[in-house]
Amino acid sequence: MFFLVVFIFTCAAKAGLSLNVSNSCPSMCKCTPEETILCNRAGLKTLPGEIAPSTISLNLSNNYLRILNTNTFRNLTFLHSLWLDGNNLTFLTPGTFHTLSRLQELHLSRNSRLTYLHANTFRGLLNLISLDLSHCNIFEIHPLLFSHLPSLESLDLAANNMRYVPQAFRNLSSLTRLSLEGNHIEAIGRDSLKDLETLCDLNLRKNRIWIIQNGAFTKLLRLGMLNLGHNFITDLPNQLFEGLIQLKTMHLEANRITAVDCTFRQLLNLRNLYLNNNQISSISDSAFLHLNKLHFLHLSRNNLSSLPRRLLSELPKLRYVFLSHNPWSCDCSTLWLWRSPRRALLEGLDCAFPGPANTTGPLGDCPFRAGACAGDVGLEPGVTSLGGAAFLCPAHTGHIVSTAEIGINSTCSRTSGALKKRPSPSAVL
Ligand SMILES: *[C@@H]1O[C@H](CO)[C@@H](O)[C@H](O)[C@H]1NC(C)=O
Ligand SMILES: *[C@@H]1O[C@H](CO)[C@@H](O)[C@H](O)[C@H]1NC(C)=O
Ligand SMILES: *[C@@H]1O[C@H](CO)[C@@H](O)[C@H](O)[C@H]1NC(C)=O
Ligand SMILES: *[C@@H]1O[C@H](CO)[C@@H](O)[C@H](O)[C@H]1NC(C)=O
Ligand SMILES: *[C@@H]1O[C@H](CO)[C@@H](O)[C@H](O)[C@H]1NC(C)=O
Ligand SMILES: *[C@@H]1O[C@H](CO)[C@@H](O)[C@H](O)[C@H]1NC(C)=O
Ligand SMILES: *[C@@H]1O[C@H](CO)[C@@H](O)[C@H](O)[C@H]1NC(C)=O
Ligand SMILES: *[C@@H]1O[C@H](CO)[C@@H](O)[C@H](O)[C@H]1NC(C)=O
Repeated sequence: MFFLVVFIFTCAAKAGLSLNVSNSCPSMCKCTPEETILCNRAGLKTLPGEIAPSTISLNLSNNYLRILNTNTFRNLTFLHSLWLDGNNLTFLTPGTFHTLSRLQELHLSRNSRLTYLHANTFRGLLNLISLDLSHCNIFEIHPLLFSHLPSLESLDLAANNMRYVPQAFRNLSSLTRLSLEGNHIEAIGRDSLKDLETLCDLNLRKNRIWIIQNGAFTKLLRLGMLNLGHNFITDLPNQLFEGLIQLKTMHLEANRITAVDCTFRQLLNLRNLYLNNNQISSISDSAFLHLNKLHFLHLSRNNLSSLPRRLLSELPKLRYVFLSHNPWSCDCSTLWLWRSPRRALLEGLDCAFPGPANTTGPLGDCPFRAGACAGDVGLEPGVTSLGGAAFLCPAHTGHIVSTAEIGINSTCSRTSGALKKRPSPSAVL
């Protein structure tokens, strides 16, 4: 038997690879009978020469590969998966993968010198299903880069350096998952995502998004998950999410939202709504009307002192409403919440102003007693106005709550929410 003892360390980029067809395993790698070659963490600066053309899976993770060219993988036409993550790749020569028509999975993440990708970088990858380009330093993508990937279903561009949504998504007709998390994107234009009709999962978390044009999501009829958490969104226009009829999970946590009107009304399949960590102080009483599948509503860490009475009453599937870390007022305007048959679903409802006698007590200690609020009996669901009278809550010494604060308005055409802001405690007698 002849064992190769001389490793080919000459630059593959210059020489091309003179592969030997034998089935010997490169000495710094591990090979399995399933045609898998593991050369990860092997200190490689270039590809070892004797990789069998029959190889199906090649793991070159965590080495020092710097440049790949059109000869590097030319004979590995049986490859199904290729791991090149955690290397030092600076440039991918156009056509590097041109013979790998069976490749389904390509990992290129954590190559921090990778900044630009030429239009023909991925030419030939006709069966590629999954492409990971996360944690590189990509700031620009050629508009035709992905047009060679008709089978691509999953594209990860998280943690790069992109400032806008690239035009390159136009021809990805099979894409179901797209992540742009952790870039520097500020705006989503009306046409940015319009060709991604097959998308199921869109992750735009941790960008700097503050502008979203109406209609940006109208073509995403199959989208089930939209993550817009940790951005700079302040307004939620009523037409913003038009088209998202399949959406099940919406993340809007950690933005700068102050009011919720009727933005969510068309999301008939919504199950999880994350609105926590915003500055919401008003919610329209019909904001969640028709959300018959809503299970979890996250409203903790906002600026809510009360909720409109009808808000939760018609949500048959509701399991939990998370309400902690809000300045809830403990007076007649929110009495209904504490008495609500749905009280068990409400998590973290604590009094912020429990009256002069006790400033720290949790909800159970709120000084509500049967009949304490004079208007109690009149506040049945469906009652929309109570006139101009004031209620006196005997349990609070001289604490007067004006009915103007309790006023209910169920129209959804207004630009801001319907809940009137409660005056600060010091403004109340
Ligand atoms: C690689 O492919 C080229 C052209 O198809 C061929 O000439 C060469 O012999 C192959 N090398 C090996 C090691 O199989
Ligand atoms: C390939 O390896 C075999 C032994 O496995 C050897 O006999 C042959 O000379 C090698 N061919 C080349 C082109 O290196
Ligand atoms: C390839 O190697 C990396 C670690 O270097 C590991 O995380 C990954 O799971 C490996 N992939 C396969 C298919 O073995
Ligand atoms: C990575 O490549 C750059 C040149 O592109 C080189 O200066 C640097 O030393 C390389 N780093 C490692 C760890 O090989
Ligand atoms: C991209 O898609 C458009 C139509 O959607 C088509 O006209 C064009 O030829 C496609 N481009 C490529 C490179 O496939
Ligand atoms: C205030 O509430 C706390 C916590 O429930 C309780 O321990 C305490 O006795 C109450 N103080 C008064 C004055 O009611
Ligand atoms: C609700 O608000 C609208 C617009 O501000 C107003 O025209 C309407 O009379 C209000 N309805 C009720 C029942 O208060
Ligand atoms: C919270 O809401 C009150 C009015 O309800 C408003 O005065 C205050 O500025 C809001 N605070 C924040 C941080 O938005």
